[in-house]
Parts: sequence; C-alpha cells; structure tokens
Amino acid sequence: MHLSRPAQKSADMASFQQPTGSSQQTEADQHLLLEWIDSHAHLQSNPYTQDLAEVLARSRTAGVQTVLLPGTDLEDSQTAIDLALRYPGQGLVASVGVHPHDAKSLTPDGLRQLRQLAIQHRGHPVVAIGEIGLDYHYDFSPRDVQRDVFRSQLELAQELDLPVIIHDREATADCLAVIAEVAARQPLREVPGVFHCYSGSIETAAILLKNGFYLGFDGPITFKNARKALEVIAACPHDRLVLETDSPYLTPIPYRGHRNTPEYIPLIGAKIADIWGCDLAAVAAQTTANARKLFGLGLSLP
Ligand code: NI
Repeated sequence: MHLSRPAQKSADMASFQQPTGSSQQTEADQHLLLEWIDSHAHLQSNPYTQDLAEVLARSRTAGVQTVLLPGTDLEDSQTAIDLALRYPGQGLVASVGVHPHDAKSLTPDGLRQLRQLAIQHRGHPVVAIGEIGLDYHYDFSPRDVQRDVFRSQLELAQELDLPVIIHDREATADCLAVIAEVAARQPLREVPGVFHCYSGSIETAAILLKNGFYLGFDGPITFKNARKALEVIAACPHDRLVLETDSPYLTPIPYRGHRNTPEYIPLIGAKIADIWGCDLAAVAAQTTANARKLFGLGLSLP
C-alpha cells in the first residue's frame, strides 16, 4: 500500500467548485449535480417490495444514478436480474452468485443454472459474479463446502471474464488461498473484483490492492468506533475505492437503526471526503469512475 494521492479533479469539477456567473448557487444545489454509484444494494429483497419505485426515485434525486443488485443465491440472482430489466432507465445492474451462507444449498444443477443465467444476461444487466466468498464468523455452511462453491464461482467469473464481488468474514487467509489456487490455473483478470464491505487490517488491504482488487466501504465507516477502517481508507489509493450501502443493512449515521437505501451513499462519500481531505464532488467523481472501471459500466446508463 502506498500513501494516498489527491483525487483527480476534472476541468468540469474545477469550474463547478468556483461558479462564476451563478454565485448564488447553494452547496445543496451543487450536491444535487453530483453523480454517485451504489455498488452493492440488495433492493430485490423483502424490505423494498412495497415502495421500490419511491426508493429508486429518492436515490436518483440524491444523485445515485447506478445501483448494483448483488445476488445471494440462485433465486435471488434471478430476482435481481428481473428487477433490473423491469425498471429500464433506472440505472440498475446486477450480479449473480451464491453467498457463502447459502453455499450448502448449491447443487451441481444449481451451479449450471447460475452459469446459464450469467451467460444469458452477461453485460446487461449482469456485470459481475457475486456475492461469493467465505464466512467463518457464522459458518452457516460447512467450510469445505464454502471453499468449493467459492472456487467454482471464481472459475465461472474467469470463464465469463467478469469481476467478482467477494464477501470475506474472518476467512481472509483461506479466501486468498482459494483465489491463488484458481489464479495458478488462469491468471486473474486485470480488474479482478472487489472485497465488499472491507473491514480488515491495513496489511491485508495492501495484499488485496497488490493483487488488483478494489475495496468497498459502507455505512459503518460513519460509526464512532470505525478507527481501523479510517486508517485503511486514508492509505487506500483513491482509484481503488468504491462506495456501497449493502442496503437494507449497515445504515450510516444519522439514520442508523433504520432501513438503508442507496440515497444514503453521499453520507458515506462525505466521510471519505473528510478522511481524504478533499471535497464531496471529488469523491463522487472518483468513486463513480472507479465503479465504472471495476464493473465495466459504460457512460450510457442501462
Ligand atoms: Ni451484501
């Protein structure tokens, strides 16, 4: 890991920060012009069945133009795809995958169906394989099964040349071992994926970054006890960090305890701006560019 460098500022942004003719523009007005990406929100899950259209509308008003819906099992992945297709023009993209919690339920036939789903919708709306990985905190699936299912899905991502969204909880050494095993047969793609909701050490972050991975940060970085994550963010190269809400979980301050939604992404961005010592516009531009590169999102929104 190397020291952070200033976030890139586009010419647009420089003029944007120093409005000449329109000096009456308020800070709030300016924020409405920012564009954000929520790279991880489970909007296909139950808490949104009643009011999804409003949630999407509020998120777009907050500047969140693109939201990635990560799949957690076969059915959930299908639902994410259906939702993205049902709301064209709303900037929804999806990933397909089986979460380590559900690894034990994945049959060989289920894996074939997941592969078919990814092939059929690759590029639109499927832009990644995830969320996949290992969770040794809850151990909802036996660890050897978790590793097998993780390995199979890493291989699927390689076959389809898609990035991965990795869930790693108290299992980093084994995550890296499985990744190394797969990479030994076929090198990882240049942009291999993201460690979602990163909460590990600065040393582990350095290893992940060296291997090309991005780091995803969520609402907990706004919590009072977030010391470790703040050190990692301060040291993280600005072009390797993406924002995610993990909605409906992990709601940032000051809405902690309520249902999370993508509209809160700017609150996470504001914390990053504090740590990096730059303005909110720079964080929006940088993290949006990062998520675009990571997931191969074109400038024309789906
Ligand atoms: Ni998640």
